[in-house]
Amino acid sequence: MKSKYPPLYYADYLKLDNLLNSQSPKSTEYLGELAHDEVLFIIVHQVYELWFKQILHELDSVITIFQDGFVNENSMGVAVARIARINEIQKLLIDQLRVLETMTPLDFLEFRDLLVPASGFQSYQFRLIENKLGLKVDQRQNFDKNAYVSRLSPEHQQIVAEAEAHPCLFDLVEHWLERTPFLNVDGFDFWENYRAAVQKALDRDKEILRQNPLLSEKEKAKEIENFSRTEAGFLAIFDEKKHHELVEQGQRRLSYAATQAALLINLFRDEPILHTPFRFLTVLIEVDELFTAWRHRHALMVHRMIGTKVGTGGSSGHEYLHLTAERHKVFSDLTNLSNYLIRRSELPKLPEEFQKNLGFYYTFKDK
Ligand code: HEM
Repeated sequence: MKSKYPPLYYADYLKLDNLLNSQSPKSTEYLGELAHDEVLFIIVHQVYELWFKQILHELDSVITIFQDGFVNENSMGVAVARIARINEIQKLLIDQLRVLETMTPLDFLEFRDLLVPASGFQSYQFRLIENKLGLKVDQRQNFDKNAYVSRLSPEHQQIVAEAEAHPCLFDLVEHWLERTPFLNVDGFDFWENYRAAVQKALDRDKEILRQNPLLSEKEKAKEIENFSRTEAGFLAIFDEKKHHELVEQGQRRLSYAATQAALLINLFRDEPILHTPFRFLTVLIEVDELFTAWRHRHALMVHRMIGTKVGTGGSSGHEYLHLTAERHKVFSDLTNLSNYLIRRSELPKLPEEFQKNLGFYYTFKDK
């Protein structure tokens, strides 16, 4: 069959000439002899940057879906699929470190000094991913006294600064959650009902402790004291003022209304209309987890490769990297929602009319 388009050649389409001529080992250039493993080192980094490009492509499209202050229901499935794709790519990125680790620390020494002061720290695409997800400047682990972008070229600094100034995925998801229409519908106040259900569950658990025949009075008092602390933590979610204080102190980030909505989605995820929002919150938690996993994994590799020496970029090496793994999280508040879950059997019963709106009409029989 004759196509109406000009014939395409595989290597042209993929610009293989450019791609395959983009590896220039410094050992050949400076030492006159190729350090064998430098080719692997370059290619692994290049493959990473290509995957970063793909992650940004997916991330930008999800940001576009959320940025207009209205999210079309049909687009939610697309958003879930794209974040899920990012997560699959991240799993590859973690695995890929194993390929690089076939290079021994001694092999790395053959060319490491030639790379100073270049470092993955200067990957502007990595910074773009962080900023577009929602990592905030004041949340960043200090590298030295300079701004985290200080080691980038002026051109890359500008690109990263622009991403910093634009709404990030975290902010957009927060606004989307705040708009959730189900918190107070048709006289059903979710929050009041949930508070009553929580209190009932807590009272029951406390009573079980009090009745435990295996504990002495002294042990019971101790257990009840511990329980009361857990209870206070749990009940803090009903205290909007306390929530704001925690946000001010940097201990929480998600607004009160958004936290309520995210919790409702988690608790009533079995209702058909909440399936996709629940999937969406889940893939966001996974994005964070997988980045954290990559950061830890990269830090372990760095420890193995260079011990406790400083990095080529000048940081404290694996120590700095482990700290970023702890601090550079974006969706922790979603992960922490597990603190506030209660059993399905203890959930407030939804009024039938309200439940009908959360489901598919044809599953309800008219009485
Ligand atoms: C032999 C292999 C590697 C070593 C020894 C190494 C070492 C380091 C060190 C020491 C740092 C901290 C900054 C510095 O002082 O330079 C760093 C940061 C970084 N590296 Fe690597 N790295 C290696 C491979 C990779 C690979 C394959 C990637 C993939 C792109 C990568 C991406 C990054 C990124 C994004 C940062 C910044 C992390 C942050 O600031 O949160 N590294 N690396």
